[in-house]
Amino acid sequence: MDRLLVEGGARLKGEVSISGAKNCALPLIAASLLAGGKHCFTNVPQLRDIKTMLLLLTHMGAVCEQGGELQIDASDIHTLTAPYELVKTMRASVLVLGPMLARFRKARVSLPGGCAIGARPINLHLKALEQMGVAIALEHGYVVGEAKRLRGARITFDQVTVTGTENIMMAACLADGVTVLKNAAREPEVVALGDYLVRMGAHIEGAGSDEITITGVEELRPSSCEVIPDRIEAGTYLAAAAITGGSLRLKNLRQENIQAVSQKLCDAGVLLESGEGFVDVRANGRICSVNIETQPHPGFPTDMQAQFMALMTLGDGVSVIKERIFENRFMHVLELQRMGADIELDGRTAIVRGVEKLSGAPVMATDLRASASLVLAALAAEGTTVINRIYHLDRGYEAIEKKLSAVGARIERVSAKGE
Ligand code: EPU
Repeated sequence: MDRLLVEGGARLKGEVSISGAKNCALPLIAASLLAGGKHCFTNVPQLRDIKTMLLLLTHMGAVCEQGGELQIDASDIHTLTAPYELVKTMRASVLVLGPMLARFRKARVSLPGGCAIGARPINLHLKALEQMGVAIALEHGYVVGEAKRLRGARITFDQVTVTGTENIMMAACLADGVTVLKNAAREPEVVALGDYLVRMGAHIEGAGSDEITITGVEELRPSSCEVIPDRIEAGTYLAAAAITGGSLRLKNLRQENIQAVSQKLCDAGVLLESGEGFVDVRANGRICSVNIETQPHPGFPTDMQAQFMALMTLGDGVSVIKERIFENRFMHVLELQRMGADIELDGRTAIVRGVEKLSGAPVMATDLRASASLVLAALAAEGTTVINRIYHLDRGYEAIEKKLSAVGARIERVSAKGE
């Protein structure tokens, strides 16, 4: 398995271009199942999760070609099954459930199973589909859904769910009548999916608010769109500049989508200035400790909690970090402690007492964002950090070591071939 070698202490300086968002591209790819013909997506990041999703669609019969742009032709879908082997490596595979049921009225999707950041069930997706007239059965580890016709329904999610909102929004596009989703997710990726579905001919109102109304249509047609910039990648590079006392210009991002993170960085004493399509970030002396609590968008994103915690380990004071979305998203804590961080865990709360310095150590990446937090800590630590199991990083950060070394980080990927 590949690992990363990071020698800490270099201040980052220069420009970083932000890639397309993984969590926008994945539902767009799933949406291409809703209509035969050629769908075309630009700004799709080169990531392992995207490859997994394309593998899944190819398995189902779609023709996928990724060059400068991604083209998907889902005219000849012959398999309505998302197999365990693919779903277990990426939960987002469950996003094919809504589109398959909408277009073919039948789907068989493996239950995702456990996950490094918590139980993550899909009960809310299934409950909503049942309300739309889908008969759901669980057979041999698979969810089997079938319906004569999908019908519109008034659905209130018990909890805000991003892929749940996306799945049901896609299913409702081809259902009979009107579907109203209450307590819907408001993430920018939900809005981007809604925009694409509208381009395909869907009738959707309210995406981006907590109530989305979808009026079913008979048929959708393929279209094209650009994947929005990755706000979590952007937040991670903002934190990288801050933790190394560096200065970066981030390009190709949407400043309005990173406000909660920007605000907390400002509170921590980091200087941010933005212009048309870019943000300049500069750290000015020691970071002040600030508290965060993760919330659905527009609150502070859970996908930035680990990276922010890495920053807070070097804060001047005590930071209280509350994880409100996932029950077990603190796997990075033990690894950060191995690097000298002072963190106490109490259920879903982490109390981080800032230390003067971190020291490089061998550490283990456990999930995507936890891995990113270890990279950040390593960039600031004294000495060398070896980060093992970096395949997690490759799921969600495009060319991370190339982007970081281009702005002065001493970071190297060591291929473990032959070990
Ligand atoms: N939940 C349920 N039942 C459900 C669905 C969700 O109990 O049927 C719970 C989850 O267990 C969790 C909470 O509701 O406690 C919110 O989960 P959500 O469904 O919103 O998460 P998701 O849709 O599976 C997406 C992102 C995650 C991100 C979360 C929260 C994609 C492909 N994934 O997951 O991204 O952390 O929303 O914002 O969009 C990542 O990129 O590293 C990542 C994990």
